[in-house]
Amino acid sequence: MTLFELSKSGRIGYELPNNNIEDFEIEIPEHLLRKKPPKLPELNEVDIVRHYTNLASKNYSVDVDFYPLGSCTMKYNPKFNEKMASIDNFTLIHPYQPVETVQGSLSLMYELKNMLCEITGMDDMTLQPAAGAHGELTGILIAKAYHLSKGDTKRIKAIVPDSAHGTNPASARMAGFEVVEIKSGPDGRVDLNELEKALGDDVAVLMLTNPNTLGLFEKDIDKITEMVHKAGALLYYDGANLNALLGRTRPGDMGFDIVHLNLHKTFSTPHGMGGPGSGPVGVKKHLAKFLPIPEIIKDGDVFKLNYNKPDSIGMVRSFYGNFSVMVRAYVYIKTMGNDGLKKVGHMAVLNANYLRKKVEKIMPIAYPDICMHEFVSTCENLTKETGVKALDIAKRLLDYGVHAPTMYFPLIVHEDFMIEPTETESKDTLDNFAEILKKIFEEARQNPDLVKNAPYNTPVRRLDDVTASRKPIFKFNFKGDK
Ligand SMILES: Cc1ncc(COP(=O)(O)O)c(C=O)c1O
Repeated sequence: MTLFELSKSGRIGYELPNNNIEDFEIEIPEHLLRKKPPKLPELNEVDIVRHYTNLASKNYSVDVDFYPLGSCTMKYNPKFNEKMASIDNFTLIHPYQPVETVQGSLSLMYELKNMLCEITGMDDMTLQPAAGAHGELTGILIAKAYHLSKGDTKRIKAIVPDSAHGTNPASARMAGFEVVEIKSGPDGRVDLNELEKALGDDVAVLMLTNPNTLGLFEKDIDKITEMVHKAGALLYYDGANLNALLGRTRPGDMGFDIVHLNLHKTFSTPHGMGGPGSGPVGVKKHLAKFLPIPEIIKDGDVFKLNYNKPDSIGMVRSFYGNFSVMVRAYVYIKTMGNDGLKKVGHMAVLNANYLRKKVEKIMPIAYPDICMHEFVSTCENLTKETGVKALDIAKRLLDYGVHAPTMYFPLIVHEDFMIEPTETESKDTLDNFAEILKKIFEEARQNPDLVKNAPYNTPVRRLDDVTASRKPIFKFNFKGDK
């Protein structure tokens, strides 16, 4: 039930304090006055509290159970980081305040930028973009500005492997590039012959995710860097999968020129369902002048905002980015320290490989190899045998209290799950997941309809996700409203 349906005329949940303000009249122009009172729900406090508490208990989150959503790095986010992000000194400031009054926040952003540069091996960075895809667009616009600054107008192509996340070609297209897709090799990695064929003096950039979306490390990265740079193009790093490499190696050292990060994945911000996020973009020295304005600079002991950057691509977001996500990332990095971050990458890879060895006995791995932080398995054989699809298994997992992995991505694998356990899960949780998966496969063979009609225990059964996204209903329909 919605609040409108619970509403009873005349019920109130609060009373305004008597603040002794004399009645006063404000002249509001006639055309701005409402013709009818607003249709606001009328409820008492306890009903509102119960409504939201019940709604919240229907939500699934990483604080409830296992969430192996591949490529999304749904790790546990320490509550301490939440607490720090919610202190008044951070939440009660306003971006229009004079910089002298927000020196602490500016110093946090400045230090965070430097720490992220150190972690990625880049020379400079902007914290402005609000998500990974936004970071991609920012990074690609920087690549465009770089080539144009050299008078090189013929570089109109962006190369993207077929295993890439859909936002990569979309960002390149939005920045005005023609997208050239290259087929992955039989081992799921970049095929050097395909890359060679695609490279030329009309290519501006290669967008690469490493480890890629199959969870595989691009072993030929040195060669790829050499080829791309020799062709005069830039190398872009989609940092959505950085969790696997933390403290081990750095995209900057692999030769990447531009990097975006997903702070909401790797650096501890609860996410899902649309934000808030943060997608900082780091660059090598030769691209620093193109970074968005304003940049935070340190002048002696004072932090300032510098808008004087003639070659900058300009502002990509209002103000300075999603600050509360930055606070969480800052606290996360500080509390983990060098050794802690190194352990994150180590444990993420160990957990993924442990689970891979268990899952491969149930649901074959698409590209069997030692993986990094995630792996992709496929139930194509089961689908042929029983008609049960990856989607059905995903729905049945919900009945057992586990969030489904990412499905049907990357597009080069069919009927697949992309499974990313993350470093924060215990061996017991991983064992339990493998047991549940095994049980569902047994169910599928014995009684396929049981799995095909799942879920049974969730607040709602199967939703029509296509209609939900094509024809979303954002407004309560009062009786009589059109
Ligand atoms: C590999 C990869 N690249 C880019 C993105 C886009 O990031 P965001 O969702 O923050 O826009 C994602 C998101 O899942 C991703 O998995």
